[in-house]
Amino acid sequence: MEEIKLKNLLEKMTLKEKIMQLYQSDLPTFNRSSSSELDSTGPVTGPENNIILDKESLYSVGSILNCNNAKNAYNVQKEYMENNRLGIPLLFMFDVVHGFRTIFPIPLALACSWNPDLIEETARIAAKEGSASGNNVTFAPMSDLVRDPRWGRVMESQGEDPLLNALLSAAYVRGFQGNDLKDQETMAACVKHFAGYGASEAGRDYNTVDMSEQKLRNFYLSGYQKSIEAGAEMVMTSFNIFKGVPATANKFLLRDLLRDEMGFDGTVISDYDSLTEIIDHGAARDGKEAAKRGIEAGLDIEMVSTEYIHHLEDLVLEGTVEESLIDEAVMRILKLKNKLGLFEDPFRYIEPEREEKTHLHPEHRKLARSTAAESAVLLKNDEILPLEDKIDQLESIALIGPLADNGGIIGFWNALGKNEEAVTLKEGLENKYGDRLKINVEAGYNFETEQLDIEAVKKTVEKSDLVILALGEEQNMSGEGGSRAYLDLPGPQKKIAETAADSNKPAVLVLFNGRPLELKWYDDNMTAILESWFPGTEGGNALANLLNGDVNPSAKLTMSFPYTVGQIPVYYNHYSTGRSPEKVEDKNYRFLSRYQDIPNQPLYPFGFGLSYNDYEYSKPELSSKEMKKEDTISASIEIENLGSYSGKEIVQLYIRDLYGTTVRPVKELKDFMKISLEPGESKRIEFEIIEDMLKFYNLENKQVIEAGEFEVFIGANSRDLNYCGKFEYKD
Ligand code: BGC
Repeated sequence: MEEIKLKNLLEKMTLKEKIMQLYQSDLPTFNRSSSSELDSTGPVTGPENNIILDKESLYSVGSILNCNNAKNAYNVQKEYMENNRLGIPLLFMFDVVHGFRTIFPIPLALACSWNPDLIEETARIAAKEGSASGNNVTFAPMSDLVRDPRWGRVMESQGEDPLLNALLSAAYVRGFQGNDLKDQETMAACVKHFAGYGASEAGRDYNTVDMSEQKLRNFYLSGYQKSIEAGAEMVMTSFNIFKGVPATANKFLLRDLLRDEMGFDGTVISDYDSLTEIIDHGAARDGKEAAKRGIEAGLDIEMVSTEYIHHLEDLVLEGTVEESLIDEAVMRILKLKNKLGLFEDPFRYIEPEREEKTHLHPEHRKLARSTAAESAVLLKNDEILPLEDKIDQLESIALIGPLADNGGIIGFWNALGKNEEAVTLKEGLENKYGDRLKINVEAGYNFETEQLDIEAVKKTVEKSDLVILALGEEQNMSGEGGSRAYLDLPGPQKKIAETAADSNKPAVLVLFNGRPLELKWYDDNMTAILESWFPGTEGGNALANLLNGDVNPSAKLTMSFPYTVGQIPVYYNHYSTGRSPEKVEDKNYRFLSRYQDIPNQPLYPFGFGLSYNDYEYSKPELSSKEMKKEDTISASIEIENLGSYSGKEIVQLYIRDLYGTTVRPVKELKDFMKISLEPGESKRIEFEIIEDMLKFYNLENKQVIEAGEFEVFIGANSRDLNYCGKFEYKD
């Protein structure tokens, strides 16, 4: 439909119809208010309002949240279209985060692949499956930068680095949206949560965020910005405050920054109930004031809560709110519906046969398998893995832990994914080894009953030659509302690991979890540690491939693992202090920025991950000691595979801006390359250093490059770096 026709349509709409377009109802509300019989009512992720809409309102609602499947979507759209006065179709939105029915590893795991193409591919498949069930918009990617593993939602993030967050977020958007939104296999992407939600104080979900605008710009914005540049059609506001104003009613964030400066011209949606919650924040006296603040700030759609539908009409009629603000918001929603081709065919995405055919398609499972293998990080290996070389000398292995034969490894935000459709680690190992090996399986601990059976664990260890432990978090311990203050392995799981360690048999720990955990004891006592995160539907097969050595681990952490909780937040790109311990050699000198009881460094740093090979990095070189305005220089290094497996190595380039008008981080990731190397092969790689890499936001919040000295490093992770040299940038 041409835009002029949308304008005509808008003119025909009553004020009430317009306001209803700004409302997103959840499926239970539609169900309660309508006469249709839906076979399920979708997940609920916040307070329910229990309202019943009158028929006139119901058939003017703009969008529906969480309409599970094609059958529901068909029934709802049909009833709606039969009753909507102007023939405006409904939009369906869902959290399709890391897969829809075929579940890929959680985003924090996928990020560890450092592979935007792979992530794009998973998002493409997620959209293919999700759209077949009638969904038009996915609430993903979550581009909130994170530094605090106590926050459960780190599992949805790309980690702690602005560059990776930007690249990977954009890859999700490209994957979900494809080249043409009218393509039936695509979904519109909604980047969230604008802005800074990842900095919730003390890692407690929905808590206060308080940071300078400069910090927001230098670290937190890039993920949202690049998602928008990649074409994301929607932005979701966050639950937190920024500069004391809730994001959902924050004019600076939504109008000045997002629209005027970042150039976003799509639709802005609140988070679940977040407009009403500005009353709880103390930023509005009542619902009426909340509605006024929301619409003035630039919020188009209100998710589930009802301030707009209850108060906007009065606000306009009494002359407090301009109707043009409502027209603007409605127009954006109509445009999105039009871009998706819904005016031509409201049922365009609703296809039960396609749903049947695409969900869990073998090709999707195959991709889930390879992505899980490319996302698991090998954290320790004392010459025990891979098992392939050793398996013939072993008669039996023990597979012990609550996650040994548990399909609950798909992670939070699993859409229509089902635990019982996931390949457990036990099944994966059985698929791999068949009769070649006896596998003695024992859960030892049950998350639900909280029962520990240490005697059974002991017996299973005793009768086996090698122990694989499958420990970690129950999958709902991370994700929304999943904050934790202790970051150990929950429950008495350490006792299971102690039993294995005491036996002096090799113990390989396979971890399933949604966040960095406190692993010092395990690092000291386990023979090997493989961090699988929540690996998704094909987790067990992927892990068997890694443990056996059919796939060589290549993933690297995108979030630091703390030495202990007291160190949090710990992240690699921190600022220098005036009293860095590195400056003083005297170990007993007291007045330094350090702890008395632990090192400053995390246990496993950002960028860290092992493989079954050693890679040797040569001395790197810098092409020049000087970089002029509009010029580039380069840094190069040779890397050799000293091992006997083919492998992939993620080579990382870091730059340090030595001084500036404001202090600069001790290092920042500026580029990386994931290279393949056959045994004995070496490759020389070259990074181009461009001006963009030197930019930052100064005290006036302007993006600048300041003349001065920069140090360059290349290495295998943010800690083990090779110094390339220093150059001077002259403007
Ligand atoms: C979450 C969002 C999510 C929404 C809809 C909220 O509680 O914060 O990330 O998209 O629910 O499910």
